Amino acid sequence: MLINKARILLTGATGGLGGALAKQLAEAGAHLLLSGRDAKKLQALQLTLGAAASYIVADLNASEGVTTLVHAAQAERVNVLINNAGVSSFGLYDEQNWSAWEQVLSTNLIAPMRLTQALLPQLKAQPQASIVNVGSTFGSIPFAGFAAYSSAKAGLRGFSQSLRRELADTSVTVIHVAPRAISTPLNTAAVNALNQALGNTSDTPESVARDIIKALAANTLESHIGFPERLFAWLNGFAPQLIDQGLRNKLATIKQHARTQD
Ligand SMILES: NC(=O)c1ccc[n+]([C@@H]2O[C@H](COP(=O)([O-])OP(=O)(O)OC[C@H]3O[C@@H](n4cnc5c(N)ncnc54)[C@H](OP(=O)(O)O)[C@@H]3O)[C@@H](O)[C@H]2O)c1
Repeated sequence: MLINKARILLTGATGGLGGALAKQLAEAGAHLLLSGRDAKKLQALQLTLGAAASYIVADLNASEGVTTLVHAAQAERVNVLINNAGVSSFGLYDEQNWSAWEQVLSTNLIAPMRLTQALLPQLKAQPQASIVNVGSTFGSIPFAGFAAYSSAKAGLRGFSQSLRRELADTSVTVIHVAPRAISTPLNTAAVNALNQALGNTSDTPESVARDIIKALAANTLESHIGFPERLFAWLNGFAPQLIDQGLRNKLATIKQHARTQD
């Protein structure tokens, strides 16, 4: 995909990774349709990016939000959809409530599936189009304390692969990128403390944005950002019992931080 010819609908533009993606994509010459729920943040971001960007306020969990986005994307002749919006939830499964899981599953899995389907006719009509799904390492290494988030991101990975295979005879490619931890507001103080205690590296949103844009430009269909996470994701695919054991050794630390939620 030529970034300077791309017309991109970016969800979650008001967030940490979304903001970095928006800035770098605009610098690379892309035309952007930014979306999020916070009008003030979107307006401020659009002002820093200038005429190459416009914005639209939409809640992805509401059907009218999806409809609004699809109409705006049609008007802008979007040929790239970046499903970046997401929420997380850290806690022990039997201590969390259904509304928290529902929010996580809806925002990270159902919403991108719904938006993708609604935009597909338009994307298929373009000579070249891409869908970029922002997953997570936890989609391949489902983690203790993140049952709903891991399930949603594993679902997003499965959705990406299935749809890619189904669209193989069209002009639309489906790219799935799985970052490890990123320093953004998504992570609560308890998650940051857990990452520190476990020695997990947190990347900057700017470096992850660079990797995602590289994947879009080079049409790299699957990527895991970070090592050793990439190795562990591969290992979980064929010897999950080894990951079970590794996480068993960290369980007391995970439980301790899950119970000190802010
Ligand atoms: N941070 C990490 O450690 C990490 C690691 C791996 C993968 N990721 C993934 O990276 C992506 C970006 O996350 P981030 O770290 O940048 O998080 P963030 O800073 O918390 O931003 C989340 C974004 O999602 C948007 N959003 C949430 N719920 C929404 C809804 N119902 N409708 C519309 N927009 C909604 C928010 O928009 P408003 O604020 O405008 O509502 C915000 O722009 C997510 O898919 C996340 O799962 C993050």
